[in-house]
Amino acid sequence: MSNMKQEILKLLKNDRFISGQEMADRLGVSRTAVWKNMNALKREGYRIESVTSKGYHLTGHPRYISPTSLEMLVAQSELFSHVQYLPTIGSTQIEAMQKLEHHDGAYMVVAEEQTNGRGRFNREWASPKNRGLYLSLVLRPNIPISEIIRFNLFISLAISKSIDQAFRIESGIKWPNDIYIDKRKVSGFLTEVVSESGVINAIICGIGINIFEDEDIMDLPNATSIEREMDVNVDMDLDDFMEKLIRNIEHYYHRFLNEPFSAIREEWKSRAIVFNKELRITETGESYMAKALDIDDEGFLEVLDRTGEIRKVISADIEL
Ligand code: BTN
Repeated sequence: MSNMKQEILKLLKNDRFISGQEMADRLGVSRTAVWKNMNALKREGYRIESVTSKGYHLTGHPRYISPTSLEMLVAQSELFSHVQYLPTIGSTQIEAMQKLEHHDGAYMVVAEEQTNGRGRFNREWASPKNRGLYLSLVLRPNIPISEIIRFNLFISLAISKSIDQAFRIESGIKWPNDIYIDKRKVSGFLTEVVSESGVINAIICGIGINIFEDEDIMDLPNATSIEREMDVNVDMDLDDFMEKLIRNIEHYYHRFLNEPFSAIREEWKSRAIVFNKELRITETGESYMAKALDIDDEGFLEVLDRTGEIRKVISADIEL
C-alpha cells in the first residue's frame, strides 16, 4: 500500500480545495505522482472533483471499507500495529487466530466478504461482499481469563457509540453481545480467548456490522442494516465510521485495562435495551422467561424469573 496515496487522501480530507501543485510541493513528489495516486483513489471509489483555478476536492466516499483509509488509521493508532485486509476469506476470526504467532502486538483482520462467517453459538453470520464490516481484533492484555465478561461490556459500548456518532442514529446494547436499532439487530460480536494457566494470551474479538441492505440480511428475521435505519439525507462516510470505531475501541479498551465496570456502568445502562422487559433467557440448555432488573458491578445481569426468584446471568442467549 503506497503511503503517498494515504498522504494524498489526508490532504483531500482537509475539506478545502487543494491544487495538484500544492499537494506535490507538500509531499515533495512530482505532479505526475500526485495524479497517478489520485486516479488510484478514484478507482477505489473516492469521488474527487476538480475545479479550474481552485484545485481538487473530495466529494464522495467508497461504499465499502477502504483499505487505504484503514491503513492510515492503523498507522496513526497507538494500540494497533498492523491491519490485514482481505478481499475474501472463510472467517476473519479463524484468520486472526492463525496469525497469532506472526505479530506481537494488537492487530486487526478485515475482509470484504466471508464465505464462512460465524456468530455466537456457531450460528452462521451472513457476510456478503462489501455489504458490511467483517472485522476481527486481536488484543493481548495480560489479565486473568475471568475478566472477559467485563471486556464485552466495554467493547459493546464502543461499537454502539461509534454507530450513533457516525450515522446519527440511536443504537442500543442488547446484553451481552448485540447492538440493536429499535427491535432489530444491526451488529453482533463474539469474543474468543487464547489463554494459558488462567491468564489471557490473546483476545480475538470478531465484530460484524450490517451496513448496506442485502437480500441475505433482509431475509433474516430481526435483522437490519445501517442503511435501512439511516436518514437518507445523511452522507454515509465509512472512513469516518472506521475512524470513530477504532478511536472508541482504543478508548474503551484502555479504560477496560484500568477501570472497573462501575466506571462505565451508568453509561452502559443508558444504552441497554434489556431492562424492564420480559425476556426469554437460554443458558446452558435451560430456557426460561424473566425480567432484567439491573446489572451488577461484575457485569452479571440480575433477572427476576416467573417464580419470583432473582437470578444472576453471566452469558446467555436472550430473546426480547
Ligand atoms: C453474533 O452476533 O453472533 C456475533 C457475530 C460476529 C460476526 C463477526 S464478522 C467478523 C468475525 N468473523 C466471523 O466469522 N465472525 C465475526
